[in-house]
Amino acid sequence: MIKTALRHYLQFKDLTAEDYGYLFQRAAIIKRRFKNYEKYQPLQDRTLALIFEKASTRTRVSFEAGMYQMGGSVVHLTTGDSQLGRSEPIEDSARVISRMVDLVMIRTFEQSKIERFAAHSRVPVINGLTNEYHPCQIMADLFTLLEARGMDARGNVDMEALKGRVVAWVGDGNNMANTWLQAAELLGFTVHVSTPSGYEVNREVAGISRADCYKVFDDPLEACRGADLVTTDVWTSMGYEAENEARRTAFARWCVSAEMMAAAKPDALFMHCLPAHRGEEVAAEVIDGPQSVVWDEAENRMHVQKALMEWLLIGRIG
Ligand code: CP
Ligand code: NVA
Repeated sequence: MIKTALRHYLQFKDLTAEDYGYLFQRAAIIKRRFKNYEKYQPLQDRTLALIFEKASTRTRVSFEAGMYQMGGSVVHLTTGDSQLGRSEPIEDSARVISRMVDLVMIRTFEQSKIERFAAHSRVPVINGLTNEYHPCQIMADLFTLLEARGMDARGNVDMEALKGRVVAWVGDGNNMANTWLQAAELLGFTVHVSTPSGYEVNREVAGISRADCYKVFDDPLEACRGADLVTTDVWTSMGYEAENEARRTAFARWCVSAEMMAAAKPDALFMHCLPAHRGEEVAAEVIDGPQSVVWDEAENRMHVQKALMEWLLIGRIG
């Protein structure tokens, strides 16, 4: 078994721009092989533990299918069916689980929880969503953007194509928004952020050091003006359900509409990490319309995560 240095993926900024260039190129290769039904199983005998303290469809299926396709296997744990839900300390869980598997993905509440797990883990830990960040999703979103605007016919990825782009974020200043800001700071684009009052992004929570990677707009339509990509997310994230009614009122104007898409560049894309609520954060005609790439975006979760798992377990190929 090849030994690689222990690395975790807890936040988007844990990797460098150069690492992302490598991973997106690998994801393109891995995706092409998958589409051509070529077997590629570099992770035989490797086991991935998937720990979910919140619900999931895409994250579970993409990691589970991706690991099996690469020849490995998966153990699935939830709060309800493990000792995690019966107050076993996260540090003890990390010590035990990481003696039996090669890789761990966790979806949980506070970022501090995944950091505590990683600090006591013998194997790499991947953030599958926390209250603060969703790095695997932004990897998939950027890969989707590159496929559309930064890849030649041979599948060569051009990271320069991200530079100077404008991403309009319409909605909650949540885990997705924070992660977009980290990506913008690292990869050289700008996020136009429009949130209702009281739901703004917080630079410290987002974990960015510069203020020039984003601009704040009161009016969501103005945030979309000239954007290369318009994106949004649910009004109420998992864990915040008690605020549902207040959020419905506060977010009423933050619904991505055809008018907002018309204010963006003519070839602007629409993305949503899903699950979506048509008629709330996005109009049906937008998410189901010609500029929407949400299904590619969802599928690309699997391809980028396969590249990530390969890199964490084997290191760079070639
Ligand atoms: N986008 C995303 O993470 O979806 P799930 O909650 O279904 O995993
Ligand atoms: N912001 C959402 C993303 C779901 C994939 C949440 O945290 O619930």
